[in-house]
Amino acid sequence: MKGNRVDVQAIKERVDVIGLISRYVSLTPSGSGFKGRCPFHKDDTPSMVVNAEKGLWHCFGCGEGGDVIAFLMKIEKLSFIEAMKRLAAEVGLSFEASEDGERQKLRAINAEAAEYFAANLKGGPGKKVRAYLLDRGYDEASWAEYGLGYALPGWDNLKRRFGSRHGEAALIELGLLVQGDENTYDRFRDRTIFPIHDLSGRPIAFGGRAFEGQPKYLNSPKTPLFDKGRLLYGLPWAREGMAATRTAILVEGYTDVLTLRQAGLTHCVGSMGTSLTQGQADLLKRFVDDVVISYDQDAAGGAAAIRGMQILRNSGLGVRVVQLPTGEDPDGLVRREGVDAMAAAIDAAVPFHRFFVDRVLAEHDRTTARGKERILDAVREFYQAVRVPTLREEIERHLADVLDLSVESVRRELPRRREVHWSDRDAQGTVETWGEEEVLLALLLRGEIGWDRISAVASPDSFSEGNRPIVEALASGVAELAELVDHLDEESSRRASYYALAPVRFSDTDKAVKDALSRLVPLPEVEQGLKDLAEAIEAAASDGDWDRWNELMQKKIELKAKELTAKGDE
Ligand code: UTP
Ligand code: MN
Repeated sequence: MKGNRVDVQAIKERVDVIGLISRYVSLTPSGSGFKGRCPFHKDDTPSMVVNAEKGLWHCFGCGEGGDVIAFLMKIEKLSFIEAMKRLAAEVGLSFEASEDGERQKLRAINAEAAEYFAANLKGGPGKKVRAYLLDRGYDEASWAEYGLGYALPGWDNLKRRFGSRHGEAALIELGLLVQGDENTYDRFRDRTIFPIHDLSGRPIAFGGRAFEGQPKYLNSPKTPLFDKGRLLYGLPWAREGMAATRTAILVEGYTDVLTLRQAGLTHCVGSMGTSLTQGQADLLKRFVDDVVISYDQDAAGGAAAIRGMQILRNSGLGVRVVQLPTGEDPDGLVRREGVDAMAAAIDAAVPFHRFFVDRVLAEHDRTTARGKERILDAVREFYQAVRVPTLREEIERHLADVLDLSVESVRRELPRRREVHWSDRDAQGTVETWGEEEVLLALLLRGEIGWDRISAVASPDSFSEGNRPIVEALASGVAELAELVDHLDEESSRRASYYALAPVRFSDTDKAVKDALSRLVPLPEVEQGLKDLAEAIEAAASDGDWDRWNELMQKKIELKAKELTAKGDE
């Protein structure tokens, strides 16, 4: 499986992107690349650009874009694996380290491991787990139904039982054993086991809950059989209910799924944490039109959760968000207050856009002019992505109402980016609609500036949520565009290809960077920081704490430098 990553790169490098795309689209040379009519929407003008050197394509009409794999997947409606296999065959390489026979072997071992864990639950040492499960409301019939089990305490129970028969390499590949410095050992020790099943009900991975200690849940790593981002917990059991209602209840945890299901809400699946992926969204789309999200209250408003909801919505699914009482999760609510309370909470779920706007409102002071401006800023990107006019209108009205502004002025403010006056007047292309983030990302992704230029004054947190995954990948040292795209979810890689390929050029890069940085970094914060420092420095001096004084002076110099860069040191 380690081999796969390398293979993907090797295969991608050998594919001729122009040759591949021109089988479907007639391409003509344009600038440094090629242009053609986008096959993914009704395109009257050629709005798709292809860059052979970077191996990327992007449509400026519909926003689709990515690498060769994304193109082939989309146009031939293939899965990732299928697309890779096809490309590999074309360039004379083979994709997938393991043969099909090998996969079957891995599946069989995993099924045997599931049986082994289940048997442990029945035995003497399983007594405390049986009591624990009964206490949580899962009776004996449910243990069998969901395949629940127990991983015994000790470092090598599974290893001793399976190692010599199946070989440790296979067990490591499945994530059942962990390779330590000197020895291999059982990954799951003294944990309640929740097998994770694929669509056809085969156990392909495990989640293990600790009785005490951290982490509370330990999951199988990514294996040849299991990729968390392409699966949902409880899928085989929820399938029928989802198809019947065209709706899925999406929860975070294993126990949320089980408890809701036991209570009769059978169209329920688990995301196994808050960060939902495009792969999971695609999966949901196969079965439902609407998703009702029910996360713990503190998790629901988090950046990862919001990103996931956005992925769902951009996939064309209807998204509503359940608001649970603080500290409660679906499992807890059903157990404490009954399924009717949960059903009522689901009925009262708010549309995602409403949830998003209210969350922004809660974070800012809506009575001051500055606060209003910040609220509008925070909603802008989100609003622009809303394609349904009635939804746009609802957001406008809601904001006008709570901000005490006229609908007209909200409508005027929202679509517009903060006014951009990039100093270089001969910037070509769409630059007038760009903000500071777009400018910086374009320059970074084209390799015209390095991340160090940004990190001197800002961090990934200075960027908006939509751009943050790209920025985080850049900050972690991934500089090659082709590699970067591999690290990103679909939406982010689409953005990255857009920034990299957009027909925008700057006559004075340096000036554009300084301009953009001065907008990105909120100067008042630096100034407040300097003020606070001055006080601390004075205090250190009067205490005679010269080490501290030194340290603070150093900080002050750094902040000063930041201030200068941000102001564009003219
Ligand atoms: P929660 O921490 O909300 O746990 O994690 P829970 O589902 O309420 O569990 P109980 O009720 O205490 O048993 C939600 C989900 O996030 C993933 C798991 O999939 C979990 O079910 N998770 C959580 C992890 O993968 N690792 C962790 O350490 C914690
Ligand atoms: Mn819980």
